[in-house]
Amino acid sequence: MAGQVNIDLPRPRGEGQLRSEGPVIKVEHLTKRYGDKVVLDDISFELARGRVYVIMGPSGCGKSTLLRMMIGAEAPDAGRVLLDGVDITTADKRTREEARRKFGVLFQSSALLNGLTVAENVALPIAQHTDLLRSTIDLMVRLKLELVGMGDAADKFPYEISGGMKKRAGLARAIALDPAIVFYDEPSAGLDPVMVGVIDKLIKDLTSKLGITSVVITHEMPSIFRIADEAIMLYGGKIVFQGSPGALRNSSSPLVRQFINGDPEGPINAPRQLAELSERLFGSGRAPAGGAS
Ligand SMILES: Nc1ncnc2c1ncn2[C@@H]1O[C@H](COP(=O)(O)OP(=O)(O)OP(=O)(O)O)[C@@H](O)[C@H]1O
Ligand SMILES: [Mg+2]
Repeated sequence: MAGQVNIDLPRPRGEGQLRSEGPVIKVEHLTKRYGDKVVLDDISFELARGRVYVIMGPSGCGKSTLLRMMIGAEAPDAGRVLLDGVDITTADKRTREEARRKFGVLFQSSALLNGLTVAENVALPIAQHTDLLRSTIDLMVRLKLELVGMGDAADKFPYEISGGMKKRAGLARAIALDPAIVFYDEPSAGLDPVMVGVIDKLIKDLTSKLGITSVVITHEMPSIFRIADEAIMLYGGKIVFQGSPGALRNSSSPLVRQFINGDPEGPINAPRQLAELSERLFGSGRAPAGGAS
């Protein structure tokens, strides 16, 4: 009808919001094996709402595996994950789909679709999961891009933007549906220190301003101390540390100390092939006789 103003109200908030009063995520006795290798060995912890949790630990210790289990993307061999009180590990497709509305994920690769612009990438989950009008979706996309400082790059394609911008675009997409929880798998990998700081601040702001619970997998020590309300360190399939950044800094655990100091010697085994390669190239660490000092 001529002159009609196209106003559609966003559907009532709530679909992506938390229903239970309890922990946002409860991991109970989670165990995962690949072949003979036990990657997660009877892991249990709880995450409260509105806080930043960092999951850390050496490469291959099972951080991404734990993440996949927390979002219901892969089934554990034993134990379960309650996401907002719902067992996501045994949920049927419909229940998983409902749970899916409660969280966003920023994957390590950013996983943007190259054939779509930044704005179209952010619009995708909204179009997939709601029946909102294009005009409303555009508005939501603008808002999310502004939030991550990417308002000017809306019409660029992923190959036209830098790694840091890709991360921020991925973050805008992860929060497109106003999730209660955001998972980040190494959000700062490959970024310069200033951009790492920018991403850290974004994670902090989203958590405090939007009340989001953030679960951040990272190796970046400065980030861990900047953003974490609580850190969880995995090693050998177990949780070897759980506590505040202050407690992490003061921990006397040799595993924790080696990890936060980046010490090549210690109880954390570097991959054997790497140790052997180093031995072949440089010898066993003794200075060659008559060599330069
Ligand atoms: N689908 C799979 N099939 C077989 N083994 C797997 C599979 N996924 C992970 N693994 C193994 O499980 C272990 C943990 O892998 P995971 O990717 O969770 O480690 P990570 O802590 O995320 O490491 P990084 O810091 O390098 O990302 C590794 O030994 C890995 O090879
Ligand atoms: Mg990983």
